[in-house]
Amino acid sequence: SSSSASKTCYQDAKYCCQRITPLNHHNKKLTDALEVLEKQADFLGGDNNSSRALAFRKASTALKALPKTVRNMREVENLCDLKGGKHCKRVVQEILEEGFSSEVEDIMNDEWFQTVKIFTGVFGCGAATGRKWFDMKLRSLEDVRRCQDINLTTEQKHGLKFYDDINTPVTRHEADVIQQIVAAEAQQILPGTTVTVTGGFSRGKTTGHDVDLLISHPEEGKEEGLLAQILYALHKKDFLEYTDVQNSSYNEAAIRQVKRNQVMDHFERCFSIFRLPKRLIQDRSELNTDQSTVKLGENTLKMSPKDQANTQRPTLAEEGSGDVEDTTNKTQNQDNSDETGNADDRNVRTQSQDAGLLDSKLTPCVDSEATSLNDGVRDWVARRVDLIITPHSQYAYALMGWIGSRMFNRSIRDYANREMNMTLTSHGLFDKTKNALIPAKTQREIFEHLKLQYREPKERNC
Ligand code: CTP
Ligand code: MN
Ligand code: MN
Ligand code: MN
Repeated sequence: SSSSASKTCYQDAKYCCQRITPLNHHNKKLTDALEVLEKQADFLGGDNNSSRALAFRKASTALKALPKTVRNMREVENLCDLKGGKHCKRVVQEILEEGFSSEVEDIMNDEWFQTVKIFTGVFGCGAATGRKWFDMKLRSLEDVRRCQDINLTTEQKHGLKFYDDINTPVTRHEADVIQQIVAAEAQQILPGTTVTVTGGFSRGKTTGHDVDLLISHPEEGKEEGLLAQILYALHKKDFLEYTDVQNSSYNEAAIRQVKRNQVMDHFERCFSIFRLPKRLIQDRSELNTDQSTVKLGENTLKMSPKDQANTQRPTLAEEGSGDVEDTTNKTQNQDNSDETGNADDRNVRTQSQDAGLLDSKLTPCVDSEATSLNDGVRDWVARRVDLIITPHSQYAYALMGWIGSRMFNRSIRDYANREMNMTLTSHGLFDKTKNALIPAKTQREIFEHLKLQYREPKERNC
């Protein structure tokens, strides 16, 4: 066909933001293996291992963009992200020849790897903590729960308590229900507020490890103070088990001088554990048919068509992306890597505290008698929800950043920096040559400023 020449041309382009990377691709066997090596390197930690992890991720990303299944080494020899990596090449060759990689099998059967994997599934436990617990001779979650020698953070206590819930993949349906609950509260507080599902779901994933909600308002400045009010409303209706609110740390300097590969943005945000009532997810037909009602006990919230228009779901609404299978099986908690997370950020006084709206009731003691007594009859499931507030002027950039993937962001930011002499973040685009910020209303405009062909969210699964 006429497209095949250009296809090979952009599909082995240098940056993955130039390629189309679908969720379902042709080389899952190879990429799964490379992702085990990546995860092992992440668990090991340190600078050297994080470059190794990135090399494995780049190789796996390159394979995801290939138009067909790789059958022999000749087909991958010239892939620029595999060329330099002896280790990647060896593993790919092993799998092509033997059908599996003994090195990867060994890692997966390794006690250290398996245990650190379980530990890092605890909300609030990153690789460094996971290693530490292993070194303390802890081998199971029960061991961690019983251990007297560790001071668990509040996050970790919740993570242990709700381990099974939080490690059960969130479905698209659950994400929609949560979006509607939050949007209904937001509408009541400030009409016109938009609540958008971003993250993996917006790239077409059918499950995820959390729900990422981007909240904004078309009138610049109206978003200020909104998060505290939304959290207060949700709290009053018992939807929140745990919240970690972080103030906005945005200033213009923050976007001009980003640290290399800095992931964390500066938006006001809340990392939460949401109590999703089982009755709201049991019968799909009650809710999911037209997305217009959420049953909340005796009150059924009906959303007006105007309100519905304000609750956007970018990929699925715009493109009807159809049925896509989740190829990853990620239940890890990446937000809470204790190596990248800044502990000081966690301790900043929150706006909600300043407003006097919320108090310690929001983060109830996990050992409280009441909570334990209710355990057997809990009528809700715990789900990780991230709420992010963005001013309207930064919306397109925030949306692109929170749609991800992480690798896509890394790639397009590197591209902007190296090829365009611009700094791209979730807040904006800064042209270092012109010494000017470049506004954008849509994601398309951002791609245009960067002289890149537009890639739909479902094509950003690198
Ligand atoms: N992100 C970010 N800053 C953070 C956390 C996440 O900018 N502190 C971005 C990431 O780049 C990612 C997106 O927000 O692209 C969503 O993050 P996350 O929920 O961790 O990943 P998902 O791609 O949504 O994967 P999953 O479906 O497993 O949740
Ligand atoms: Mn997510
Ligand atoms: Mn998230
Ligand atoms: Mn996350």
